[in-house]
Amino acid sequence: MIDQSTIDRIFSTSQIVEVVGDFVALKKRGANYTGLCPFHNEKTPSFSVSPAKNIFKCFGCGKAGNPVTFVMEHEQLSYADALRYLAKKYNIEVVEDTPSEEDVAKRSERDSLMVVTEYARNYFVKTLKTHRDGQAIAQSYLRERGLRDDIIEKFQLGFCVDERDAFSKEAVGAGFRPEFLDKVGVSKLRDDGSLFDRFRGRIIFPIHAIAGKVIGFGARVMKTDNKEIAKYLNSPESEIYHKSNTLYGIYFAKNAITKQDKCFLVEGYMDVIAMHQSGIENVVASSGTSLTLDQIRMIRRFTQNVTIIYDGDPAGIKAAFRGIPMVLEEGLNVRVLLLPDGHDPDSFARSYSASALQDYISKNEHDFITFSSGILLKDASDDPVKRASVISEIVKTISVIPDQIFRAVYVKECSHLLGVEESVLHSQISQLRKEKVATKYNTELVEKRGAALQPTETPVPTTHPCSGNELDIMRLLVLHGDKTLYTVEEGGYSRPVRVKEYIISEIYEGEMFFLNETNKVIFNDFIEKLESGIQVDEAYYLNHPEQAFRDFAFKHLHPQYRLSKIFMIDKTLADKGVDFMMEAERQFLDKLVFETILSYKMKRMKMESIKVLEEMKTTSDPEALRVILQKQMYIKEFEKQIAAEIKRLSC
Ligand code: GTP
Ligand code: MN
Repeated sequence: MIDQSTIDRIFSTSQIVEVVGDFVALKKRGANYTGLCPFHNEKTPSFSVSPAKNIFKCFGCGKAGNPVTFVMEHEQLSYADALRYLAKKYNIEVVEDTPSEEDVAKRSERDSLMVVTEYARNYFVKTLKTHRDGQAIAQSYLRERGLRDDIIEKFQLGFCVDERDAFSKEAVGAGFRPEFLDKVGVSKLRDDGSLFDRFRGRIIFPIHAIAGKVIGFGARVMKTDNKEIAKYLNSPESEIYHKSNTLYGIYFAKNAITKQDKCFLVEGYMDVIAMHQSGIENVVASSGTSLTLDQIRMIRRFTQNVTIIYDGDPAGIKAAFRGIPMVLEEGLNVRVLLLPDGHDPDSFARSYSASALQDYISKNEHDFITFSSGILLKDASDDPVKRASVISEIVKTISVIPDQIFRAVYVKECSHLLGVEESVLHSQISQLRKEKVATKYNTELVEKRGAALQPTETPVPTTHPCSGNELDIMRLLVLHGDKTLYTVEEGGYSRPVRVKEYIISEIYEGEMFFLNETNKVIFNDFIEKLESGIQVDEAYYLNHPEQAFRDFAFKHLHPQYRLSKIFMIDKTLADKGVDFMMEAERQFLDKLVFETILSYKMKRMKMESIKVLEEMKTTSDPEALRVILQKQMYIKEFEKQIAAEIKRLSC
């Protein structure tokens, strides 16, 4: 147990900006700092850090807390370990009361595994330095590969001697439980209870989490003449090590990534280490897995700019083509650097001086259009069919970029390089994006709906009974979306909830997706624009290339008609002109928004009700009937709630 006065010191010393800043790139905005929330996936920052209050708060996902809770959440640490982490960061000496047996037992498995990895790391480092074989064999191998001592030290490289169970024996002797040694993969536990060393005879590369804790190992053989033996063995998946969301080197790279506002992505352990040695520290490796979304998102916390450096061989090119759209889709800028044949970043870094390396990189990294067209057109230049398929491949890649402005930039470049008119590219891209939204919408609909509201399979006609309500909602979104609907008090903050947030949460997050096809497209487009930070207004719709969008603006954006049915604006007021109407609408905005949403919900429930009655008529199976009745009860209950809310609104 950590003694109370130590805890007090840790709390009074820890600065939220410094603590969060180790993990999240923060930008100062007024008195506060903002950044991308590390707890949920987002593309525009809603994560806010207040130095004055010493707290963080995400307006997107709602997570909030102080420096200690941040570390607990972010690093998945226990309270005590979060305190220890902060104590270390601020050089505070931790005074511990002697732990009770219960305290020891309570340590979570995670913590225990981390203790094992730390112990193993220290053991392997010691072996490399002091064991006869460590010195004679392993150290000379590393030197042969050109690694300096300070780099070996920094990356905590180690060695496991080539004996059956030298490590395991010592670890068990030191009190570590065989299951835990097996779980982190440093030992293998046999059925008969005996242990043997998994990494025997190998160089050890500890793998660090963002905050520097060792979560696993890579282990390399020193000779590669025997092809039967895997060059690398890696720790198995465990409570602390998940291959797919780990980036080798992130702990050593994160500061440099923020500083340079750029991250190099390479394939292997040795590539990361060799580049560090040549002075390029903003580099991480996906280590043998093909790049994952979690890894890309981890990079995105620190920078928007990624340069993929892969070998120039077919495998490297293939990996680059697979990685590019994934990175782009997450809203990052991606560049590609292919190395000359026969080189990987490791060999390349070693054969150049640091400045020559920097120079080569800046001259040879290409944005993905230049890269893709260069590669793809190499053997397609005279063949018009092949050429067309290259273009459509590149167009497909551009279409995944969330930001419209970046898309436009790439379209320009693509048009220039490939000699295709911009407008042609644009129209293909907008077609692809529409298809994507449609697919996304359909899968979400199926995934999200609760059993009680499973849609029946009949296709929804284009002119739909709900269409008018949906257009009313769109109208409020476009004309009044940015206005404050109400404010909420949260942890000392007063936060305005805007009309658009409310509507989106009711319709989108509330799974009341629009039924009319056209409305659906317009609504999804609104969300897409919002997410990419693009302001849409009346002019956007009036000038839209698509007829349906323009129609929406012409016919539905002005309140010449139908406003409220229950309580407020009388149709006759329309005679007094649009301005008068708009003024009335502004005055009653909150009621209007609530009413519009509620009556839409009511209508949807009525429709569900009718469907259920139809189903009842045609069903005889008692079990199926029971399900339908349950559905009906659910709908009735929901209708009652809505009716009550509408009533409350009108008094
Ligand atoms: P060197 O061959 O020492 O230069 O290592 P490297 O890190 O450059 O390895 P390489 O480029 O061959 O492979 C890239 C990454 O893939 C490695 O760092 C490992 O993470 C992974 N990898 C390579 N070979 C194996 C293997 O046999 N098994 C497993 N599990 N991973 C491997
Ligand atoms: Mn290599």
